[in-house]
Amino acid sequence: MHASPIDEASDIVRAARRLLVLTGAGISAESGIAPFRGKGGIWARYDPMEYGTLDALRADPAKVWRMLYDLGLEIAAARPNAAHHALVRLEPHLHLTIATQNVDALHQRAGSTDVVELHGSSQELLCMACGRRWAAADVVVDALELPPRCGCGGALRPDVVLFGELLPPGVFERAEVAARTADVVLVVGTSAEVAPAAWLPTIALRAGARIIELNPETTWLTTEVTHVFLHGKAGEILPELVAAVIHD
Ligand code: OAD
Repeated sequence: MHASPIDEASDIVRAARRLLVLTGAGISAESGIAPFRGKGGIWARYDPMEYGTLDALRADPAKVWRMLYDLGLEIAAARPNAAHHALVRLEPHLHLTIATQNVDALHQRAGSTDVVELHGSSQELLCMACGRRWAAADVVVDALELPPRCGCGGALRPDVVLFGELLPPGVFERAEVAARTADVVLVVGTSAEVAPAAWLPTIALRAGARIIELNPETTWLTTEVTHVFLHGKAGEILPELVAAVIHD
Protein backbone atom coordinates (compact mmCIF):
# COMPACT_ATOMS: atom_id res chain seq x y z
CA MET A 1 0.00 0.00 0.00
CA HIS A 2 1.16 3.51 -0.74
CA ALA A 3 0.60 6.27 1.78
CA SER A 4 -0.37 8.76 -0.95
CA PRO A 5 -0.63 9.13 -4.72
CA ILE A 6 2.66 11.09 -4.63
CA ASP A 7 4.40 8.13 -2.94
CA GLU A 8 2.97 5.79 -5.55
CA ALA A 9 3.95 8.09 -8.42
CA SER A 10 7.45 8.65 -7.07
CA ASP A 11 8.05 4.88 -6.80
CA ILE A 12 6.94 4.50 -10.42
CA VAL A 13 9.15 7.33 -11.68
CA ARG A 14 12.15 6.15 -9.61
CA ALA A 15 11.95 2.73 -11.28
CA ALA A 16 11.67 4.24 -14.79
CA ARG A 17 14.48 4.38 -17.30
CA ARG A 18 12.68 6.41 -19.96
CA LEU A 19 10.17 9.07 -19.01
CA LEU A 20 8.02 11.09 -21.38
CA VAL A 21 6.46 14.22 -19.91
CA LEU A 22 3.52 15.57 -21.91
CA THR A 23 2.79 19.15 -20.92
CA GLY A 24 0.00 21.56 -21.73
CA ALA A 25 -0.99 25.09 -20.89
CA GLY A 26 -1.61 24.20 -17.22
CA ILE A 27 2.12 23.92 -16.51
CA SER A 28 2.55 27.57 -17.51
CA ALA A 29 -0.54 28.84 -15.66
CA GLU A 30 1.51 29.66 -12.58
CA SER A 31 3.87 31.64 -14.82
CA GLY A 32 0.94 33.94 -15.62
CA ILE A 33 -0.03 32.54 -19.04
CA ALA A 34 -3.75 31.80 -19.18
CA PRO A 35 -4.69 28.30 -20.40
CA PHE A 36 -6.94 27.92 -23.45
CA ARG A 37 -10.05 26.28 -22.04
CA GLY A 38 -12.20 27.08 -19.03
CA LYS A 39 -13.06 30.33 -17.29
CA GLY A 40 -10.65 33.14 -18.18
CA GLY A 41 -9.05 30.95 -20.86
CA ILE A 42 -7.92 32.31 -24.24
CA TRP A 43 -10.76 30.50 -26.02
CA ALA A 44 -13.29 32.12 -23.67
CA ARG A 45 -11.99 35.54 -24.74
CA TYR A 46 -11.52 34.68 -28.41
CA ASP A 47 -13.74 32.21 -30.25
CA PRO A 48 -11.25 29.60 -31.54
CA MET A 49 -13.12 29.19 -34.84
CA GLU A 50 -12.87 32.94 -35.44
CA TYR A 51 -9.38 33.57 -34.09
CA GLY A 52 -7.57 30.24 -33.99
CA THR A 53 -7.70 28.83 -37.49
CA LEU A 54 -5.46 28.99 -40.54
CA ASP A 55 -8.44 30.13 -42.63
CA ALA A 56 -9.07 33.05 -40.26
CA LEU A 57 -5.40 34.06 -40.39
CA ARG A 58 -5.46 34.05 -44.19
CA ALA A 59 -8.76 35.93 -44.38
CA ASP A 60 -8.02 38.57 -41.75
CA PRO A 61 -4.47 38.47 -40.33
CA ALA A 62 -5.00 41.67 -38.29
CA LYS A 63 -7.93 40.10 -36.42
CA VAL A 64 -6.10 36.87 -35.57
CA TRP A 65 -3.08 38.93 -34.51
CA ARG A 66 -5.20 40.62 -31.81
CA MET A 67 -5.42 37.21 -30.08
CA LEU A 68 -1.75 36.43 -30.85
CA TYR A 69 -0.70 39.83 -29.51
CA ASP A 70 -2.50 39.21 -26.18
CA LEU A 71 -0.92 35.77 -25.88
CA GLY A 72 2.47 37.27 -26.84
CA LEU A 73 2.24 39.86 -24.05
CA GLU A 74 1.64 37.14 -21.46
CA ILE A 75 4.47 35.01 -22.84
CA ALA A 76 6.89 37.96 -22.93
CA ALA A 77 6.22 38.69 -19.25
CA ALA A 78 6.43 35.05 -18.13
CA ARG A 79 9.28 33.27 -16.37
CA PRO A 80 9.62 29.50 -15.83
CA ASN A 81 7.94 28.41 -12.58
CA ALA A 82 8.69 25.73 -9.98
CA ALA A 83 7.17 23.02 -12.20
CA HIS A 84 9.48 23.79 -15.15
CA HIS A 85 12.48 23.89 -12.78
CA ALA A 86 11.52 20.58 -11.15
CA LEU A 87 11.65 18.80 -14.53
CA VAL A 88 15.18 20.14 -15.07
CA ARG A 89 16.26 18.65 -11.71
CA LEU A 90 14.96 15.24 -12.79
CA GLU A 91 16.97 15.16 -16.03
CA PRO A 92 20.26 13.69 -14.68
CA HIS A 93 18.37 10.74 -13.14
CA LEU A 94 16.76 9.14 -16.21
CA HIS A 95 16.20 9.55 -19.94
CA LEU A 96 13.67 12.36 -20.05
CA THR A 97 11.86 13.74 -23.08
CA ILE A 98 9.35 16.56 -22.80
CA ALA A 99 6.64 16.81 -25.48
CA THR A 100 4.95 20.14 -24.96
CA GLN A 101 1.88 21.66 -26.56
CA ASN A 102 3.01 25.04 -25.29
CA VAL A 103 4.61 27.64 -27.55
CA ASP A 104 6.14 29.69 -24.72
CA ALA A 105 9.61 28.03 -24.66
CA LEU A 106 9.54 28.05 -20.83
CA HIS A 107 10.87 24.47 -20.61
CA GLN A 108 13.95 25.45 -22.61
CA ARG A 109 14.39 28.69 -20.67
CA ALA A 110 14.33 26.68 -17.43
CA GLY A 111 17.10 24.44 -18.87
CA SER A 112 15.38 21.27 -20.12
CA THR A 113 17.36 19.92 -23.06
CA ASP A 114 15.14 17.39 -24.85
CA VAL A 115 11.95 19.29 -25.68
CA VAL A 116 9.65 18.45 -28.58
CA GLU A 117 7.48 21.48 -29.40
CA LEU A 118 4.36 19.85 -30.82
CA HIS A 119 2.60 23.13 -31.65
CA GLY A 120 5.60 25.18 -32.73
CA SER A 121 7.07 28.19 -31.00
CA SER A 122 6.14 31.81 -30.52
CA GLN A 123 9.84 32.67 -30.58
CA GLU A 124 9.92 32.64 -34.40
CA LEU A 125 7.86 34.48 -36.97
CA LEU A 126 7.32 33.39 -40.54
CA CYS A 127 6.51 35.52 -43.58
CA MET A 128 3.26 34.32 -45.18
CA ALA A 129 4.43 35.66 -48.58
CA CYS A 130 8.13 34.81 -48.95
CA GLY A 131 8.61 32.27 -46.14
CA ARG A 132 11.50 34.14 -44.48
CA ARG A 133 11.95 33.35 -40.77
CA TRP A 134 12.47 36.04 -38.18
CA ALA A 135 13.44 35.75 -34.51
CA ALA A 136 10.44 37.20 -32.69
CA ALA A 137 12.85 39.20 -30.54
CA ASP A 138 14.01 41.08 -33.68
CA VAL A 139 10.52 42.15 -34.73
CA VAL A 140 8.69 45.07 -33.16
CA VAL A 141 5.03 44.13 -32.90
CA ASP A 142 2.92 47.27 -32.65
CA ALA A 143 -0.66 46.72 -31.42
CA LEU A 144 -1.80 49.57 -33.67
CA GLU A 145 -0.17 48.13 -36.79
CA LEU A 146 -1.08 44.48 -36.96
CA PRO A 147 0.00 42.25 -38.56
CA PRO A 148 3.75 42.90 -38.32
CA ARG A 149 5.34 42.82 -41.78
CA CYS A 150 8.36 41.17 -43.38
CA GLY A 151 10.95 43.20 -45.31
CA CYS A 152 9.13 42.03 -48.49
CA GLY A 153 5.86 43.57 -47.25
CA GLY A 154 4.17 40.22 -46.55
CA ALA A 155 2.30 39.58 -43.30
CA LEU A 156 4.28 37.77 -40.61
CA ARG A 157 2.77 35.03 -38.47
CA PRO A 158 4.14 33.18 -35.45
CA ASP A 159 5.48 29.72 -36.22
CA VAL A 160 2.73 28.08 -34.17
CA VAL A 161 0.18 25.48 -35.20
CA LEU A 162 -3.34 26.82 -35.72
CA PHE A 163 -6.50 24.74 -36.03
CA GLY A 164 -6.64 23.30 -39.53
CA GLU A 165 -2.86 22.96 -39.80
CA LEU A 166 -0.62 19.93 -39.63
CA LEU A 167 2.08 19.68 -37.00
CA PRO A 168 5.57 20.57 -38.27
CA PRO A 169 7.08 17.63 -40.20
CA GLY A 170 8.71 14.97 -38.03
CA VAL A 171 7.65 16.53 -34.74
CA PHE A 172 4.81 14.18 -33.84
CA GLU A 173 6.91 11.24 -34.98
CA ARG A 174 9.64 12.18 -32.45
CA ALA A 175 7.07 12.38 -29.65
CA GLU A 176 5.50 9.11 -30.76
CA VAL A 177 8.83 7.28 -30.56
CA ALA A 178 9.30 8.69 -27.05
CA ALA A 179 5.78 7.49 -26.15
CA ARG A 180 6.34 3.98 -27.53
CA THR A 181 9.64 3.57 -25.70
CA ALA A 182 8.74 5.23 -22.38
CA ASP A 183 8.24 3.14 -19.23
CA VAL A 184 6.33 6.03 -17.71
CA VAL A 185 4.40 9.02 -19.05
CA LEU A 186 3.75 12.00 -16.83
CA VAL A 187 0.91 14.13 -18.19
CA VAL A 188 0.94 17.64 -16.73
CA GLY A 189 -1.60 20.43 -17.16
CA THR A 190 -3.41 19.42 -20.32
CA SER A 191 -7.11 18.90 -21.00
CA ALA A 192 -6.03 16.37 -23.67
CA GLU A 193 -8.68 17.77 -26.01
CA VAL A 194 -6.45 18.38 -29.04
CA ALA A 195 -5.19 15.60 -31.31
CA PRO A 196 -2.71 14.27 -32.11
CA ALA A 197 -0.94 15.39 -28.88
CA ALA A 198 -3.80 13.90 -26.83
CA TRP A 199 -3.13 10.45 -28.32
CA LEU A 200 0.37 10.17 -26.85
CA PRO A 201 -0.63 8.78 -23.40
CA THR A 202 -2.79 6.10 -25.05
CA ILE A 203 0.00 5.17 -27.47
CA ALA A 204 2.34 4.76 -24.48
CA LEU A 205 -0.25 2.82 -22.46
CA ARG A 206 -0.71 0.33 -25.32
CA ALA A 207 3.07 -0.11 -25.44
CA GLY A 208 3.07 -0.97 -21.73
CA ALA A 209 3.83 2.34 -20.00
CA ARG A 210 2.47 3.51 -16.64
CA ILE A 211 0.60 6.80 -16.87
CA ILE A 212 0.69 9.48 -14.17
CA GLU A 213 -1.51 12.53 -14.59
CA LEU A 214 -1.16 15.83 -12.71
CA ASN A 215 -4.01 18.33 -12.93
CA PRO A 216 -6.29 20.28 -10.57
CA GLU A 217 -9.21 18.87 -12.63
CA THR A 218 -9.91 15.42 -13.97
CA THR A 219 -9.88 14.89 -17.75
CA TRP A 220 -11.08 12.05 -19.98
CA LEU A 221 -7.63 10.51 -19.51
CA THR A 222 -8.20 10.20 -15.75
CA THR A 223 -10.69 7.36 -16.09
CA GLU A 224 -9.59 5.93 -19.45
CA VAL A 225 -5.80 5.95 -19.35
CA THR A 226 -4.32 7.22 -16.08
CA HIS A 227 -2.93 4.85 -13.42
CA VAL A 228 -2.06 7.47 -10.79
CA PHE A 229 -3.81 10.83 -10.62
CA LEU A 230 -2.07 13.65 -8.76
CA HIS A 231 -4.62 16.27 -7.88
CA GLY A 232 -3.29 19.82 -7.70
CA LYS A 233 -1.22 22.54 -9.28
CA ALA A 234 1.91 21.70 -11.24
CA GLY A 235 4.02 24.33 -9.42
CA GLU A 236 3.21 22.72 -6.08
CA ILE A 237 3.00 19.00 -6.87
CA LEU A 238 5.87 18.57 -9.37
CA PRO A 239 8.61 19.85 -7.01
CA GLU A 240 7.23 17.53 -4.32
CA LEU A 241 7.20 14.57 -6.71
CA VAL A 242 10.72 15.24 -7.98
CA ALA A 243 12.08 15.67 -4.45
CA ALA A 244 10.55 12.30 -3.51
CA VAL A 245 12.05 10.62 -6.62
CA ILE A 246 15.58 11.90 -6.14
CA HIS A 247 15.51 12.15 -2.33
CA ASP A 248 16.94 15.67 -2.29
P1 OAD B 1 -6.16 23.64 -22.00
O1 OAD B 1 -6.44 25.07 -21.69
O2 OAD B 1 -7.12 22.91 -22.86
O3 OAD B 1 -6.03 22.82 -20.64
C1 OAD B 1 -5.25 23.26 -19.57
C2 OAD B 1 -5.29 22.22 -18.49
O4 OAD B 1 -4.43 22.65 -17.43
C3 OAD B 1 -6.67 21.98 -17.86
O5 OAD B 1 -6.91 20.59 -17.77
C4 OAD B 1 -6.54 22.60 -16.47
O6 OAD B 1 -7.33 21.92 -15.49
C5 OAD B 1 -5.06 22.43 -16.20
N1 OAD B 1 -4.47 23.38 -15.24
C6 OAD B 1 -4.86 24.63 -14.95
N2 OAD B 1 -4.03 25.19 -14.04
C7 OAD B 1 -3.11 24.26 -13.73
C8 OAD B 1 -1.98 24.22 -12.86
N3 OAD B 1 -1.64 25.27 -12.10
N4 OAD B 1 -1.23 23.09 -12.82
C9 OAD B 1 -1.57 22.02 -13.59
N5 OAD B 1 -2.61 22.01 -14.43
C10 OAD B 1 -3.37 23.10 -14.50
O7 OAD B 1 -4.67 23.61 -22.57
P2 OAD B 1 -3.96 22.46 -23.43
O8 OAD B 1 -4.41 21.11 -22.99
O9 OAD B 1 -2.51 22.76 -23.44
O10 OAD B 1 -3.37 24.34 -29.42
O11 OAD B 1 -4.57 22.75 -24.86
C11 OAD B 1 -4.10 22.02 -25.94
C12 OAD B 1 -4.07 22.88 -27.17
O12 OAD B 1 -5.33 23.52 -27.34
C13 OAD B 1 -3.10 24.04 -27.10
O13 OAD B 1 -1.78 23.67 -27.39
C14 OAD B 1 -3.64 24.96 -28.15
C15 OAD B 1 -5.12 24.87 -27.81
O14 OAD B 1 -5.99 25.10 -28.87
C16 OAD B 1 -3.13 25.09 -30.48
O15 OAD B 1 -3.14 26.30 -30.41
C17 OAD B 1 -2.86 24.29 -31.70
